[in-house]
Amino acid sequence: MVKSIRGAAALTGLLVLSWPLVGAAQTPAPPSAQQPAATADTAPLPKVVLFATGGTISNRAGGRLTVEELIASVPNLTRYVQPEAVQFANTASSSMTLDQWLDLSRQINARFTADQDLAGVVVTSGTDTLEELAYFLHLTVRDERPVVVVGSMRNPSTLGYEGAANLEDAFRAAGDPMSRGMGTVVVLNDEINSAREVTKTDALSLDTFQSGRYGVLGVVDSAGVAYYRRTVRRHSAKSEFDVDAIKALPRVDVVYTYQGATGDVIQAVVDAGAKGVVIATAGAGATSGTQGQGTAYAIGKQVFVVTTTRAGQGRIAAGGGGRGGNTPTYRIAGDDLTPIKARILLMLAIATTTDGSQIQRMFREY
Ligand code: DGL
Repeated sequence: MVKSIRGAAALTGLLVLSWPLVGAAQTPAPPSAQQPAATADTAPLPKVVLFATGGTISNRAGGRLTVEELIASVPNLTRYVQPEAVQFANTASSSMTLDQWLDLSRQINARFTADQDLAGVVVTSGTDTLEELAYFLHLTVRDERPVVVVGSMRNPSTLGYEGAANLEDAFRAAGDPMSRGMGTVVVLNDEINSAREVTKTDALSLDTFQSGRYGVLGVVDSAGVAYYRRTVRRHSAKSEFDVDAIKALPRVDVVYTYQGATGDVIQAVVDAGAKGVVIATAGAGATSGTQGQGTAYAIGKQVFVVTTTRAGQGRIAAGGGGRGGNTPTYRIAGDDLTPIKARILLMLAIATTTDGSQIQRMFREY
């Protein structure tokens, strides 16, 4: 049976809806209300809640698929899981606000707390900024149980739509006990990647989500879910970031380094109210033009400046020059996080502390 709820109602109770009647091909027959969740010789099927937020996976010409229609588009899903449904939003990923991110994380946390029988959560997202939402959830959903973020590169009106296949993989990963402790993972194209490491690398191709040199965590295939490694950095159940205590995320901007870049861009974002600036530097920390003056301006205003690399991979290590001890400092090394993921960690860090040495610790640990 599919249980379906919308938005904030998620926190208060479940409204049971009938099996949706949609035009999706191969819609499976509704399991009867009396039918056990599994056959007598198997354990009950894992319960998995889908929070749908929109994106290409639901962007059908003539009207977006609802969460119920998404579930109905996966033939025989109830062979693997007991799905439940929350229509959180139905929009492009880049249209989601930071307040919506906080709200989504609060709802997932509340759902895990309220339902100890829940095996995991699936979140649909547009792919454009999917890795940002996924990393945010990786840092703020404080539970051992997995969050699986999924999307598709082709929309439901396009030949070769892979959304239903990705969704089935995501449900199977979320229901699999091996996914516990993995934090938030991203499932597309039969691959499982860590939210911390994955990046959209191609504007169009189906194998766009890659983790660079780190590689996939695992795969989902016809035989099931298989993992080959785990990320050792702090996340999910071990995270210190409490979204219930964060009313709003502070403004943090990303500024790119390029030949002859001017520091007035950095000054402008500081004057506009940024509490932090992530610099996507060249190589292992080089700025160009007058950016050095810009970062000095930011630090003078007690704005945190995080150094990352625009190279796509590689570490900017903490250490040296006045960064130790308890002396607050505003110059932070971004480790191996991509600039956009460093921004997410910095927003959460600044929402949690104003102590620069603590913020540097966070960049070492997460
Ligand atoms: N490009 C898709 C995204 O990442 C959005 C398409 C849409 O849902 O409008 O969100």
